[in-house]
Amino acid sequence: EKPWRDVIEVSKLEENWVTRVEIGPRMIAVYDTPSGVYASLALCNHGGADLCDGYFDGHVIECPLHQGAFDVRDGKPVSAPATRAMRVFETRVQDGMVQVRM
Ligand code: FES
Repeated sequence: EKPWRDVIEVSKLEENWVTRVEIGPRMIAVYDTPSGVYASLALCNHGGADLCDGYFDGHVIECPLHQGAFDVRDGKPVSAPATRAMRVFETRVQDGMVQVRM
């Protein structure tokens, strides 16, 4: 099983918004929502735009480039031209720290 990795202190997340975090060579998007914290790869799987520059509402991240959208809870595409699920990571908050399994 993959290990949990510290990502960012939960207090540093912007409330109900998306925060960009670099973990080594990877860029991760961390989403604060009323139902908890979620995380995905930051780059859109449609054309490589940075989802952290997109618009976040509820549980849906909208890509800044072509306005494709994904549900951050399971990665499923919810609006064209996004057609494939984005890569999401199992996420938890432990002692004030956001952790992802990756
Ligand atoms: Fe994200 Fe096209 S790059 S929808």
